[in-house]
Amino acid sequence: TEVIIVENQDEAGSIYAQCVARLIADKPDCVLGLATGSSPLAAYRQLAGRVEREGIDVSQVRGFALDEYAGLDPSHPQSYKSTINRTVVEPLGLDPEKIHVPNGNLDTIGEAGKAYDKAIEEAGGVDIQILGIGTDGHIGFNEPGSSLASGTRIKTLTEQTRIDNARFFDDDINQVPAHCITQGIGTILKARHLILLAFGSGKAEAIAETVEGGISSFCPASALQLHPHATVIVDEAAASRLR
Ligand code: F6R
Repeated sequence: TEVIIVENQDEAGSIYAQCVARLIADKPDCVLGLATGSSPLAAYRQLAGRVEREGIDVSQVRGFALDEYAGLDPSHPQSYKSTINRTVVEPLGLDPEKIHVPNGNLDTIGEAGKAYDKAIEEAGGVDIQILGIGTDGHIGFNEPGSSLASGTRIKTLTEQTRIDNARFFDDDINQVPAHCITQGIGTILKARHLILLAFGSGKAEAIAETVEGGISSFCPASALQLHPHATVIVDEAAASRLR
């Protein structure tokens, strides 16, 4: 795993933007793996800036998001469908038809995971997957204990994750969905290049486990050690527990 220590989120974001700009130049219909959360926001901003300044044609770019809440209408402002639209599709000017988010509809969620993995495969796989990491080492909604070989599937959110995410639901944990659909760790590992971003001391322990700990389902992000092209971009605070 390659580790890059940066001054701030914008510097991390510009490294991501550089990788993606190069990819699009090479492969205009490339496939981006997208994440929600705060960690990738500067990266999306940097990429949007480049797209605008350099007039990069993104009309053919395709994308697959990592995860979605179960049983939350896609039109809900906190659904990951809405979040990806607001933070990625609109600022970059992507074609919304080409950007996919797992379907959290409870009536079809049993089959939705396999269908999603199949859609990624039929698109030729993800070229660059951006990732954040939870303080417990989760990636996507793969909490500690998730199989490192897992595909996209329904999961139960941990109490801690529901508490963490209550800030998006009027600080009311009862409004936070109890389940989600998430790309599995096995799905994520199939992407050709993984770029994990982490900032702040709250992530330091998880980053040390990810990069220097043993490969274990107790730190789902440690699966990055199995990947031939994984880049971890961190600020000083998130790097502070590395040896
Ligand atoms: C986002 C996701 C999560 C976040 C993680 C970190 O789609 O699946 O794994 O990446 O919870 O969140 P932030 O970046 O908000 O600290």
